[in-house]
Amino acid sequence: MRASDEEPFMPGQHPDLHPLYAQHLMTLQRNATAALERAGCDHLVIAAGQPAMQFLDDRPYPFAVNPHFKHWLPVTNAPGSWLVHTPGERPRLIYLQPRDYWHVVPEAPAGYWVEHFDITIIREPAEARAHLPADATRCAVIGEANAAIDGFVPDNPQAVLDHLHWHRAYKTEYELAMMRVASRIGVRAHRAAEYAFRSGASEFDIHMAYLAAARQTDNELPYGNIIALNEHGAILHYTDLAHAPPAISHSFLIDAGASFHGYASDITRTHAARGVHRASAFQSLVDAVDEAQQRLAAGVVAGQSYPELHLRAHLALAAILREHGFIRCTPESALESGISRAFFPHGLGHPIGLQVHDVAGFQASEAGGTIPRPAGHPYLRMTRTLEPGMVVTIEPGIYFIDMLLAELRATAAGADVDWGQVEEFRRFGGIRIEDDVVCTDGAPENLTRDAFSQLA
Ligand code: GLY
Ligand code: MN
Ligand code: MN
Repeated sequence: MRASDEEPFMPGQHPDLHPLYAQHLMTLQRNATAALERAGCDHLVIAAGQPAMQFLDDRPYPFAVNPHFKHWLPVTNAPGSWLVHTPGERPRLIYLQPRDYWHVVPEAPAGYWVEHFDITIIREPAEARAHLPADATRCAVIGEANAAIDGFVPDNPQAVLDHLHWHRAYKTEYELAMMRVASRIGVRAHRAAEYAFRSGASEFDIHMAYLAAARQTDNELPYGNIIALNEHGAILHYTDLAHAPPAISHSFLIDAGASFHGYASDITRTHAARGVHRASAFQSLVDAVDEAQQRLAAGVVAGQSYPELHLRAHLALAAILREHGFIRCTPESALESGISRAFFPHGLGHPIGLQVHDVAGFQASEAGGTIPRPAGHPYLRMTRTLEPGMVVTIEPGIYFIDMLLAELRATAAGADVDWGQVEEFRRFGGIRIEDDVVCTDGAPENLTRDAFSQLA
């Protein structure tokens, strides 16, 4: 077991995982059985996957397990293993522990989940065939193409995927327990990163401080950290890491999460430096985005349309731009003319769970189909109506992106912008505040804010 797997739950909050996991597994079995019925199959077979090799090399890319596999059990590093669900039977795990003295061999299965599986240990990938259902034509086989073994080739039936993906949006209590821990690990590392920033560290050194505090390597994180000082905050997916600190650090935007038992957290904070030119003006802009973000997070309630919340975010951010002297028009006309899109050019957020950008954000029903995005909002990643059990990010932002602002300036709407004020703030790059929020039957549960207050 790795150090990060031993992550303590909060004192007094260590849930008994046995009943939570048993209930989670029952939910998965029920959903898998219904998915098989939909596709007319008898067995659901899930390949953990195989590492992909780099071109003309003998080095693999970092292994990323099939998310369907880690949905069933907290095992993220068992390439060549397989899961079989047959309705009415105990789930079966075919677990590859190769004879290999070059690499670490996956440890023997252990933990709260083991008692629920019939487990067969194999020593060679091809040995799995003898333990998989005899008639491959009766199976729905979920996995990447390179997981294929003789006689078993992933076919990923769309009807099965649609059903499973639809239900992945509704997290079980077990999954929420995992995501609370992933949030706490991320928050602990965010605190270390802020400390490094305030000590004058470079992006590279802040990143290293983050990894050390999370006790996770880059490959274990749910996505590549965004560690952006100053104007780098205006590059939405900035993943370079400057080794030298800037002459003056004005601001720090950090978008970084953590993993726990296969589940992700996704957290962004923006910090103003203290005592530098216009720092207090930037801090009050950060505070305004933070307040708007909390109002939007409070809107994660059952029955709320997510695209409507996204449009509400545009109006809230445009109101902030007006109050802080960047634009002169009303929020409604800023949304209408595209001004708000130049400052907030991404979506409000996305579903999160086993994948940081989780599946089924656009799905119309458990039978598939797509709910389109509102016109003019091509980067929104979630168009569903919120329901209890869903977990979404809420991540509004205001950025000073030269390319988009130059385009805006060339349009008639550019006359509504105070370009001198924009110029004063370019050095700060941008602001994003991002929390992971659970929709419940009542008030939302904010995994990120809860973790920040627990680890205060
Ligand atoms: N960290 C990627 C995102 O916020 O969606
Ligand atoms: Mn996100
Ligand atoms: Mn993020």
